[in-house]
Amino acid sequence: MKPINQLIKEKPIVGWLIFIATIVIVFVLGLFASSIVERRAESVFVYTPKVEHSQFEPRNEVWGQNFPRQYQSYLKTADTTFRSKHQGSATIDMLEESPRMVVLWAGYAFSRDYKQSRGHANAVNDVHHTLRIGAPIDGNKSIQPNTCWTCKSPDVPRLMNEIGVAEFYKGSWEEKGHEIVNAIGCADCHDAQTMNLRISRPALVEAFNRRGIDITKSSHQDMRSLVCAQCHVEYYFNKKKIEGVQYLTFPWDNGLSVDAAEAYYDNIEFTDWTHTLSKAPMLKAQHPDYELYKMGTHASRGVSCADCHMPYMSEGGQKFTDHHVQSPLNNVANSCQVCHREETDKLIADVYERQDKLIENKYKLEEIIVRAHVEAQKAWDLGATEEQMKAILTDIRHAQWRWDYVAASHAAPFHAPVESARIISSGMVKAQDARVKLARVLADLGFNKEVPYPDISTKAKAQQFIGLDMEKFNNDRKRFLDEVVPQWLETAKQREANYNTKEL
Ligand code: HEC
Ligand code: HEC
Ligand code: HEC
Ligand code: HEC
Repeated sequence: MKPINQLIKEKPIVGWLIFIATIVIVFVLGLFASSIVERRAESVFVYTPKVEHSQFEPRNEVWGQNFPRQYQSYLKTADTTFRSKHQGSATIDMLEESPRMVVLWAGYAFSRDYKQSRGHANAVNDVHHTLRIGAPIDGNKSIQPNTCWTCKSPDVPRLMNEIGVAEFYKGSWEEKGHEIVNAIGCADCHDAQTMNLRISRPALVEAFNRRGIDITKSSHQDMRSLVCAQCHVEYYFNKKKIEGVQYLTFPWDNGLSVDAAEAYYDNIEFTDWTHTLSKAPMLKAQHPDYELYKMGTHASRGVSCADCHMPYMSEGGQKFTDHHVQSPLNNVANSCQVCHREETDKLIADVYERQDKLIENKYKLEEIIVRAHVEAQKAWDLGATEEQMKAILTDIRHAQWRWDYVAASHAAPFHAPVESARIISSGMVKAQDARVKLARVLADLGFNKEVPYPDISTKAKAQQFIGLDMEKFNNDRKRFLDEVVPQWLETAKQREANYNTKEL
C-alpha cells in the first residue's frame, strides 16, 4: 500500500475523508464525556432516600437525612460571623446605626427595636427576641397578630394545611408560639415528592392571581426568585377581608413599583399607625426585596435571586445548590464570577460604591423627615387646625413611605441602584414640600423661628426623646424568654415525637 501522503496527493478526496472522519470521532468522544458529566450531576437526584416523610414535615433535619449536602450547607445560615461594609449575617442594630429612625417610627413598635436580618436558621429565635412583639407575659396578649409568623417557619404550611389559611392568621401572636418552632427550611421551598421548587405561601399566589397571572405556570428560572418572593416582599394585614382576621396581603394590584403600592394604600385609606409627634397617618414599608430586584439590571437580564444567593457548588465531583443563603460578598467566586470576569476586589467595590452613594442621600432624607415631624408637632402645639395640616400630613406620609421602602429593603442599593436613587430623591421632594407648607402655617400662627432639631445623637437619647420606657420593655422581654418560650419548646417537642416518619 502507498504511503498516505502520496495517496492524498493523487486523490485529495482521501485527505478530506480522513479529516471528516477525525471530526466525527472527536465529536462522538465529546458526547461521551459530556454524558458522563451529566450522569454524575443526575446522580444527585437519583439518590437513595433514607426516610419517607410527608410534604408537611416541618423538621429540616428529617428532610436533611435524604439530602445531607443541601442540609449541611443550610445549617451554615446559623452562622453570624460574616460582616460586609453594610450587611452580612452579624447582628447590626439599625437604631444604633441611625437613631433618626427611632423618631421616624415614634408610636410604632419599630422604634423599640430593629436589627438587620440574619441567616434563615435564626428566624424563629430572632422573633422571640425582638421587642416588637411586646412580651406576652402574665396572660397579656402580644401586640402582633399570628400573621407575623407567616415568613418564619415550615411549621406555617403544616398548620395552614391542618386548620386552614384564615384560621392560621387569626388571633394574636402568642397563641401559636408552641406550634412554630422550626426555622425557615425545606418545606417552605420544596415539593417532598419531586424536590421541585414549590410555593407554600398563599399570599404570593393570591397577589398574582388578582393581576390575572397564574404563577404555577412560571418558568424554572422565575421559580428561583419566586420562592424568595413568598417572604422578601412588601405586605400588609387586611382586616376587612374576614372578620377578626388580619389577612396577609401584598399591595400589588396596581403593579410592583413604590408609586403603585402607595396609590393602593391611599385608595383603601390604609394606615399602619398615627405618628406620635406629627399625627400623620403613616405607612410602614416591610422588605420589598423582590419588587426592587425586579427594577434592576440583573432581573432584566434574567438573573435570579438563587443565582447570587444560592450558587452551585461542587463537592467530590458532585454539583449541588449551596443552601447557605447569605450575603454574596462572602462568596464572590461562586456568586458573581460565574458571570463576571472582574477581580473580587473590583466586584465588592462596585457593591460598596452603590451602597455608599445611596446611603448618603438616605441619611439626608431621614433628617429632613425628622424635621418635618417636629415642625408639625410645633404647629399642633400652636393651635393649627386639621384643615391647615391635612396636605402637610399627606406629604409626610408619602415622603417617609418612600424613604422606608428603600431603607427596609436593605439590599436595594445593589439590587436596583437607579430606582432606589429615584425613590429617595422623590421622597426628598415630598418632605421639602411638607416643610415649605409648614413654614407658612407656622408663620400664620405667629412663629417664624427655626424649630430646634432634637438631640437624638444616640439610640438611647432618641428613645428618651419620644418617651419610651426601655427598661420596662427589656425586663418584660427577659421574663418572656425565661418563663414562656421554654414551655413552648417543650410542648413542641412532645408533639413532634408523635410525627410519622418512616426509616427506609
Ligand atoms: C446579581 C446578584 C444578586 C441578585 C440577583 C439578588 N441579590 Fe440580594 N444581594 C446581592 C448583594 C451583592 C447584596 C449586598 C450584600 C452585602 O452588602 O453584604 C445583596 C443583599 C441581599 C440581602 C441582604 C443581605 C444581608 O446580608 O443582610 C437580602 C435579604 C437579599 N439580597 C435578598 C435577595 C432576594 C430576595 C433576591 C431576589 C428577589 C435577590 N437578593 C437578588 C446580590 C444579589
Ligand atoms: C429558600 C428556599 C429554599 C430552602 C429553604 C431550601 N431549598 Fe433546596 N433548593 C432551593 C433552590 C432555589 C434550589 C435550586 C433549584 C433549581 O434550580 O432547580 C434548590 C435545590 C435543592 C435540591 C436539588 C439539588 C441541588 O442541590 O440543586 C435539593 C435536593 C434540595 N434543594 C434540598 C433541600 C433541603 C434538604 C432543604 C432543607 C434543609 C432545602 N433544600 C431548603 C431553594 C430552597
Ligand atoms: C419563609 C420565608 C422566607 C423565604 C421563603 C426566604 N426568606 Fe430569606 N429571610 C427570611 C427571614 C425572616 C429572614 C431574617 C431572619 C433573621 O433575621 O433571623 C431572612 C433573611 C435572609 C437573608 C439575610 C441573611 C444574612 O446572613 O444576613 C438573605 C440574604 C435572604 N434571606 C435571602 C433569601 C433568598 C435568596 C431566598 C430565596 C431563595 C429567601 N431568602 C427565601 C424569610 C424568608
Ligand atoms: C447569572 C449571571 C450573573 C451573576 C451571577 C451576576 N451578574 Fe452582574 N450582571 C450580569 C449581567 C448580564 C449584567 C448586565 C450587563 C450587560 O448587559 O451589559 C450585569 C451587570 C452588573 C453590574 C452593572 C449593572 C449595575 O447594576 O450597576 C454590576 C455592578 C454587577 N453586575 C455586579 C455583580 C455582582 C457584584 C455579582 C455577585 C454578587 C453579580 N453581578 C452577579 C450577570 C450576572
